[in-house]
Amino acid sequence: MLRFLACGAVDDGKSTLLGRLLYDCKMLFEDQLEELANDSARFGTTGGGNLDFALLVDGLSSEREQGITIDVAYRYFATERRKFIVADTPGHSDYTRNMVTGASTSDLAILVVDARKGLVTQTFRHSYLVSLLGVRHVVLAVNKMDLIDWDQEVFDQITTAYRAYADRVGIPHVTCIPVAALSGDNVSRHSEHMRWYQGPALLEHLESVDVERDMTGLPFRFPVQLVSRPHLDFRGYAGTVVSGAVGVGDEVAVLPSGKTTHIARILTMDGDHAEASAGQAVTLVVEDELDISRGDVIVAGDARPQVADQFAAHIVWMDEAPLLPSRNYLVRIGSASLNAQVTELKHSINVDTLEHVAAKHLDLNDIAFCNISLNQAVPFDPYAENRDMGNFIIVDKMTNATVGCGMIGFALRRATNIHHHDLKISAEARAAAKSQKPCVLWLTGLSGSGKSTLADLIEQRLHSMGHHTMLLDGDNVRFGLNRDLGFSDEDRVENIRRIAEVSKLMNDAGLITLVSFISPFRSEREMARALMPDGQFFEIFVDAPIELCEARDPKGLYKKARAGEIPNFTGINSPYEPPENPDLVLNSAGVEKDALVAEVIAMLEQARII
Ligand code: ADX
Repeated sequence: MLRFLACGAVDDGKSTLLGRLLYDCKMLFEDQLEELANDSARFGTTGGGNLDFALLVDGLSSEREQGITIDVAYRYFATERRKFIVADTPGHSDYTRNMVTGASTSDLAILVVDARKGLVTQTFRHSYLVSLLGVRHVVLAVNKMDLIDWDQEVFDQITTAYRAYADRVGIPHVTCIPVAALSGDNVSRHSEHMRWYQGPALLEHLESVDVERDMTGLPFRFPVQLVSRPHLDFRGYAGTVVSGAVGVGDEVAVLPSGKTTHIARILTMDGDHAEASAGQAVTLVVEDELDISRGDVIVAGDARPQVADQFAAHIVWMDEAPLLPSRNYLVRIGSASLNAQVTELKHSINVDTLEHVAAKHLDLNDIAFCNISLNQAVPFDPYAENRDMGNFIIVDKMTNATVGCGMIGFALRRATNIHHHDLKISAEARAAAKSQKPCVLWLTGLSGSGKSTLADLIEQRLHSMGHHTMLLDGDNVRFGLNRDLGFSDEDRVENIRRIAEVSKLMNDAGLITLVSFISPFRSEREMARALMPDGQFFEIFVDAPIELCEARDPKGLYKKARAGEIPNFTGINSPYEPPENPDLVLNSAGVEKDALVAEVIAMLEQARII
C-alpha cells in the first residue's frame, strides 16, 4: 500500500495528472467516462475531442468546496502491483489546511510544476510543508513538457534548482520526472518524445518505490480512545495501536501517571489475540486496577515517551484571525484536550529563502517555530520519530474552529525542572485573617468610559467599609510591570495575561481586587475568569457610547487618534469586543456616579462577598 498526495500551484496540472493516472489505471467507471466526454466537449479547455481530465477531479473538488469544511478526498485505486490511497487536496494557497491533512498521512508527495514557469513560491511552500510533515519521498513532476518542445535543458535547470532546495529542507528522496499529463507522456507509459529521459514513468515509480515506513519497528504506543465497561466484571481500553507491538504478559506503563502493569488480554471483534501491532484497533485489558481514562497513553514499559507540559514545536497557522502569543487556545493531542498558550514565537519561516523571520504574531498560512505551554503534562514523542505521537491541532476557544496544527520538536528543559510547591497557608486562611471574602472586580470598557474614576470610587467605598482592597489601573501598570508593552493586539493580550495572573495572586492574598483595563478582547477576559475560583470573578462592563467617550476625551487621546497620531487606538482603529454576558453593566452615560457605585455594592452583597 502506498499513501501519497499530489500538490502544486493552481493550473500547474495537478488535477489533470491525477485524472490521467486514474484513467490509465482504468479506475474510471463507464458512466464517469461518458460524463467526462460530454463535459470535455462542453466545458473542456483541451479541444479537438480530447478528454479534459482536470474536469474529473476538479468537478468533485468544487462539489466538496460547497460543504462547510473543504476536506481532503481520499481515492483508492490499485494496479496489479500495488494498492494506492491518494489524498486529493485543492491547490489554492488558502487550502494549506487540506494539504497539511493530506501530507500528515502520506508517505510520498507528487509535486507538480509547470515546465514553462519552473519553481514558484507555491512549490517551495508545499515542499517545506511536506518535509515538515514527515514526507520523505517527493516526486517532482515537471509537467507540460509538450509546451516547451520536450526540452531536456529546461527540465535539467528546474530539477537542479529543486534538488538544491530539497537538500536544504531535508527531503531525502527526490525523483524528477518530465511529463505531459494531458497526453499521458511518462505518466503510465514512457514518452516517445523524451528519449533523453532514462528514468521510470510516474506510475512505474509509484508502483516500485520503497517507502520503508515501518511503524511496527517503533516502541509500543496506544492512546486510549474509550474506556469500555459493559458490565462490572469487565474493564477494557479501546483504541488503535499507533506504533510498535504488544503481547499478552508484556509490561506496560500508563502515561501521564507513569504507573505500570501487565497486559492481561488483547481483544478484537473476533475474540482474544496473543499480540497486536501498529494499525490494529483493539481493546486492551490490564492486570491491575488502575485509573486509566480517555487521553491516557499505554506504552511499552521499557521504552517510554517523554512527558512534558512545555515544548518547542513547529506550527502552521490556518486561520484568518492571527495567532497571538499569550492567548489561550485549546490544543488537541492524541485524544486529550488541553489549554495552551504560545509563550514565545521564536521565528516564522520564509519558505522561499528558508530565512528565519522575527514574528510577533502569525497570519494565515504562516509557518513558525515556537514554545508552547499546556496546563497539564502530556506524553509525546518528537514528530520526526513518531508522527502520531508528536502532532497536535490548535482550536480557537471562542469559535471552536481548527486554526492551526503543530509538530512537536522537543520538551523544554525548564518544564521538567520545576515542581509545584504546596503552601501551608491557603488562600482561604489569608482571606479569613482579613475577615473577608476575596474577589476580582474586572472593569472593562473604552478609554474615557469612566472605568478608572469608577474603580477609584468603588475602592474608596469598600475601604471605608473596612475591606482590604487593591486597585490595578491600566495606565499605572503600564508605568511599571508592563512598561515594555505597547498597544498592538499581541501586546494587549500579553498585558491582560499578566494582569490576570497578578489579580489571581492578589485574590490568593485575600484581597478584593479592582482591575481597570480596556481589556478589549473577549478571549482574554474569559481567560482571566477561568483563572479565578468560581464566584470570585465579576466582569463589569462600563458602557458608554464612543461618541460620549470621544466628547469627554479626558487625556486628549481621541483627538490625537483622529489626527492619525496614535495607531491602534481602541474604538477608532483597533477593535473593542463588548462583553456578551457581563455580571454587571454600568451605564456611565446618564447615571450618577454614586448610583453606579451603589449598584456594585449591591451586587457584592447579593453574592455574599460583603
Ligand atoms: S488594554 O487595551 O491593553 O487593556 P490598557 O487599559 O492597559 O489597554 O491601557 C489603556 C490606556 O492607555 C487608555 O486609557 C489610554 O489612556 C492609554 N492609551 C494610549 N494609547 C492607546 C491606544 N492606542 N489605545 C487605547 N488606549 C491607549
